[in-house]
Amino acid sequence: HRHLLGIEGLSRPDIEALLARADDAVALSRQVEKKRNVLRGRTQINLFFEPSTRTQSSFELAGKRLGADVMNMSVASSSVKKGETLIDTAATLNAMRPDIIVVRHHSAGAVHLLARKVDCAVVNAGDGAHEHPTQALLDALTIRRNKGGIEGLTVAICGDVLHSRVARSNILLLNALGARVRVIGPSTLLPTGVARLGVEVFTNMREGLKGCDIVMMLRLQRERMNGSFVPSVKEYFRYYGLDSEKLALAKPDALVMHPGPMNRGVEISSEIADGAQSLIREQVEMGVAVRMAVLEALATHLPNG
Ligand code: CP
Repeated sequence: HRHLLGIEGLSRPDIEALLARADDAVALSRQVEKKRNVLRGRTQINLFFEPSTRTQSSFELAGKRLGADVMNMSVASSSVKKGETLIDTAATLNAMRPDIIVVRHHSAGAVHLLARKVDCAVVNAGDGAHEHPTQALLDALTIRRNKGGIEGLTVAICGDVLHSRVARSNILLLNALGARVRVIGPSTLLPTGVARLGVEVFTNMREGLKGCDIVMMLRLQRERMNGSFVPSVKEYFRYYGLDSEKLALAKPDALVMHPGPMNRGVEISSEIADGAQSLIREQVEMGVAVRMAVLEALATHLPNG
């Protein structure tokens, strides 16, 4: 593949090859000397139109560990603020001859559009409520390393599924690797027809958590709810917040995940977020490794690669 625009379009062998590469990147990242030369001489631009802590910093570290020159475009202080369009911004950056552009944008499909306008490889770092493929890959890597595999596991994705690109990419990837996927949330925060994606749908969290191996919590994305129904935080936590009482309904060895950023006391209690069943910190470590794996895989398809 020349780009990574989504989990859609990746085969099971594609995904497994990336996860195997990411396991090697975890080992490398745990050494004192963390650098390789795979992207030496190459230029990577991180172009983030939406805020990010984890994704942007881990793509920067990943590029640097592979030897690339990494440039972070600060959109907040760029000419986008003066009205320059996405396409003109893309053409401008393209003229600087980057090898890889990593893009996050608030509109679903913006990354696909940009990929058609530039000569280099494009990686989707999150586009609207559409896809966040490297998040799904890092989640799969985290699950695999803790559970030994993904086939046959029951995974519940809980909360604001409607606005979540993380949920969509995870549903595609977990189904491709043979997990049983459930979505749990209030009907107002579940996309219409979500069952067509191959998931079991629950609006009662206590019912949905029964027998789960993995409980994946999502942030309530209030910034994407302009004009539509915004639940009260207190009510939301009571019915859909993960606390020890609700988690006790899942399997005794169930593990808890959250892509971050977390809203403690909204979708998850601090006790669970920081507790023994939480994989949240490990997800961040796996994020760097997965992004190294993706950049390395794309390197072989770059012009003159
Ligand atoms: N999980 C995730 O995408 O986090 P950031 O928004 O901080 O990058």
